[in-house]
Amino acid sequence: MTSGWWINEKRHAGEEHLDTKEAARFDEKSPFDPSTEVETLLGYGLTEEDTVIDFGTGTGVFPLAVAEHCDRVVAVDVSKSMVEIVHDKTEEAGLQNIEPIHDGFLSYDHQGDAASYAFSKDALHHLPNFWKVEALKSVGATLEEGGVFRLRDFVFSFDPQDSHAAIESWLDEKQSTPFTDEELHVHFREEFSTYGFLLEPMLQEAGFEIVESTYETDFYAEYTCLWCGTSE
Ligand SMILES: C[S@@+](CC[C@H](N)C(=O)[O-])C[C@H]1O[C@@H](n2cnc3c(N)ncnc32)[C@H](O)[C@@H]1O
Repeated sequence: MTSGWWINEKRHAGEEHLDTKEAARFDEKSPFDPSTEVETLLGYGLTEEDTVIDFGTGTGVFPLAVAEHCDRVVAVDVSKSMVEIVHDKTEEAGLQNIEPIHDGFLSYDHQGDAASYAFSKDALHHLPNFWKVEALKSVGATLEEGGVFRLRDFVFSFDPQDSHAAIESWLDEKQSTPFTDEELHVHFREEFSTYGFLLEPMLQEAGFEIVESTYETDFYAEYTCLWCGTSE
């Protein structure tokens, strides 16, 4: 899509994700154990015939873990630095079935069999709300009917009346993490995390049935969804 009103996804991707040095530090700063995610997909019936797509894959932790359980994994990220890391890790691991793709949620054009599973962690909040819905439609368009989408992201579930106190208390808790104050502040000032009470209808309007929502903290949510397709 080249129309003048279309979003530039890269501009919203987060400077630290586009920067080669910062991308190289990503796994150390934001470690992620993908084993429960792989188990979840296996529980939903993932087989060696299936295609899986990870949107906003970062350094490809999830694709590398799920690759042995499926036929094909597409690892999509709008950051060239991240995609290069996935490429290097994939070569190092000798895996033939991971395709690192330099694209965004919205620009990715899926080729081949429809995917049975899609995954996205900590990436959707980079898009403003209108574009989140467009991104969710785009994820759905890659899936077969009934395909499973696991979405994990920074999502708010505190009472809107208490938002300032909740955010200040969250920032205090994060003081002992490797993130600078500025990096933590940017999350609220310049990124687009939203409330669960807004994101759930967005998922539904985009064409997903939500089969499970988990709000483990007031700042994070996980959704398991099934693609119902469009009514056309
Ligand atoms: C916080 S990282 C999460 C990486 C990985 N999913 C994880 O949890 O380890 C967010 C990733 O989303 C990517 N990203 C941001 N906006 C995107 C978009 N519109 N489409 C695809 N990827 C995007 C960034 O480049 C970055 O690699």
